Amino acid sequence: MERIQSALAKARAARERKLQGANPGTPMKSAETGPWQGLAELKLNPGHLERSRIVAINPGPSAASFDVMRTNLLRTLRTNGWTRVAITSPTPGCGKSTVTANLAFSLARLADTRVLVIELDLRHPSLMEMLGAGAEQHFAQMLAEGRIDYSHIRRVGPNLAFAMSTRASENPAELLSAARTADIIDEIETQLRPDIVLFDLSPVLVSDDAISFLDQVDCALMVAAAEETTVAEIEKCGKDLAKRTQVLGVVLNKCRYMEQEESLTYPV
Ligand SMILES: Nc1ncnc2c1ncn2[C@@H]1O[C@H](COP(=O)(O)OP(=O)(O)OP(=O)(O)O)[C@@H](O)[C@H]1O
Ligand SMILES: [Mg+2]
Repeated sequence: MERIQSALAKARAARERKLQGANPGTPMKSAETGPWQGLAELKLNPGHLERSRIVAINPGPSAASFDVMRTNLLRTLRTNGWTRVAITSPTPGCGKSTVTANLAFSLARLADTRVLVIELDLRHPSLMEMLGAGAEQHFAQMLAEGRIDYSHIRRVGPNLAFAMSTRASENPAELLSAARTADIIDEIETQLRPDIVLFDLSPVLVSDDAISFLDQVDCALMVAAAEETTVAEIEKCGKDLAKRTQVLGVVLNKCRYMEQEESLTYPV
């Protein structure tokens, strides 16, 4: 376990050196007119978002559980100096993308907290449809081509941006573990300077896609579906994640018999 911790710390330190080296003495974000402000804006339809279970855009009872998760997450990230969070699950359909989007909207309601969501569930991209984003976007294809094109990252309001794909990719694990992919994501982070990057990844127990990318994140949240995910699946997924990154906890989603505020837990 100590060796894993030490390897993770080294990888993180190397990434930080790279980001700092590329961007020394960066100015205050509020005074900026840089690449983040230059991202094309995506206008969303509140009715569509509600039908997609995106409920954390505005404060209120429906957003409360995501706001609690946001507060716990921010505390952990700030304490450790982390920025990159993987969101995954043992099996498909547990609610990773729904949780990712809601958490992102909740975080982005905080002033001066810039949030970038990168969709890397390359077999089943769904955020475009979930958000009701019209025009096609091909962030994964851009990664495969090894170039940066900011037209595949769209901003929603002042603090939030999504890098998404309309179509599934071929060879996801190869793409996710490629050094070039890591370099592109580092460069995007350097240019856009988000405070938090949320990665919507594939489920852990059905392919090695998510595991292939875990070296690039600081920590991971596991989403489990109440009455669907088994304890054995949670344990196996947790062990697989813990070999590669820090596991923050399990988000219990789809709880029918709890109050909304209680339905998402985040034990650290
Ligand atoms: N809390 C919830 N209660 C009821 N249904 C939910 C909840 N969260 C998500 N869902 C629904 O479950 C389905 C799967 O959700 P989502 O796409 O977020 O899961 P996923 O883990 O990202 O799936 P995949 O592995 O296919 O990418 C969607 O129809 C979504 O609307
Ligand atoms: Mg998904």
